[in-house]
Amino acid sequence: MVQITVEGKDRQSFECGSEDTILRAALRAGIGFPYACNVGSCGNCRFQLLDGEVEHARQDAPAWTESDLKRNRYLGCQAQPKNDCRIKLRFDESFTPKITPAKTQTTLKEKNAITHDITEFVFELEHPNRFLPGQYALIGLPDIQGGRAYSMSNITEDGSEWHFQIKRVPQGIATTCLFDRVDIGDTLEVDGPFGVAYLREDSPRDILCLAGGSGLSPMVSITRAAAVSEKLQGRQIDFVFGGRASRDICGQEILAELPGFGERIHFHEAISNPGPDDADWQGYVGFVHDVAREIFGDSIRDREIYFAGPPPMAQAVQKLLFNLQVPPEQIHFDEFY
Ligand SMILES: Cc1cc2nc3c(=O)[nH]c(=O)nc-3n(C[C@H](O)[C@H](O)[C@H](O)COP(=O)(O)OP(=O)(O)OC[C@H]3O[C@@H](n4cnc5c(N)ncnc54)[C@H](O)[C@@H]3O)c2cc1C
Ligand code: FES
Repeated sequence: MVQITVEGKDRQSFECGSEDTILRAALRAGIGFPYACNVGSCGNCRFQLLDGEVEHARQDAPAWTESDLKRNRYLGCQAQPKNDCRIKLRFDESFTPKITPAKTQTTLKEKNAITHDITEFVFELEHPNRFLPGQYALIGLPDIQGGRAYSMSNITEDGSEWHFQIKRVPQGIATTCLFDRVDIGDTLEVDGPFGVAYLREDSPRDILCLAGGSGLSPMVSITRAAAVSEKLQGRQIDFVFGGRASRDICGQEILAELPGFGERIHFHEAISNPGPDDADWQGYVGFVHDVAREIFGDSIRDREIYFAGPPPMAQAVQKLLFNLQVPPEQIHFDEFY
């Protein structure tokens, strides 16, 4: 263990193990260290190293630039300290974990195909831990450096099972391993929960969930939790799911099992690139953000909004919400890298 001291007006110290990163050790110590992706892509966890030595787990982290190196800046989610360090960063209370993230071994119990390229993976945790609907975990895969981020799709009281709905990426290193090499009964390491795009049960607003492709999982978890939340019983929940073609569309059967489906929970489906196989398509045609605008118009502004999906979708939704002047505190999202 080495000691990390954060300088500044909120001076604090915490311990970091040799296998951990500074960000994750800080979160385990209950410190509000700002972050988003946990995999070196967003840059939100950047800090300045004042003293000591760190090594980046991921040397080619996209968010780490030459100029960062010159200014002694590192990414908290990748920085592994070699000795005691002093660092500079600004805490943010909103990142203080509500549930302490922890590493545990997990066993794969089930693999259930949802579409031609999305599968639900059900893991049983050796050391159960809870999570908030909408949060994600880092899954360690055999012979692959660095954990990959995946959002949970279930809701759980005791934290013994975490379910993930994962989209296979053609030629993707991590998903090829997960889909083709990891079998029922295999054990993997899972670290979490992480993320702040979780369900706000204290919100007085109706809910809008927007999911594109791989963004299904956290939106399903949020909808499942909102459906049974006593505090949210009076709220409408609209779920817009988008894919390229009809074979990519899923979600309705999952939500149809929820109490209030068809009454206060509504599913809307959209495809962006209809082809010859989509001649019978009855749903919307267009991108998720355009379809949401078409269905809800300016009333989007009155919603609590959750969204998840690939970067182009996340950026388009952000732009729409900015143009509609939706207050930032009503917007909760994970950008998938
Ligand atoms: C917060 C968050 C939640 C997500 N939730 C989901 C989900 O619920 N379902 C889903 O299908 N996808 C989700 N993703 C996307 C997922 O994490 C992977 O990016 C995706 O599965 C890519 O798989 P691949 O096979 O292409 O992986 P790879 O070919 O291994 O690489 C693709 C991604 O991994 C990153 N990467 C490469 N090397 C490293 C390394 N050493 N350490 C860490 N990252 C590295 C790359 O930057 C790239 O973004 C989420 C992403 C994030 C950030
Ligand atoms: S780069 Fe570290 S959290 Fe995204």
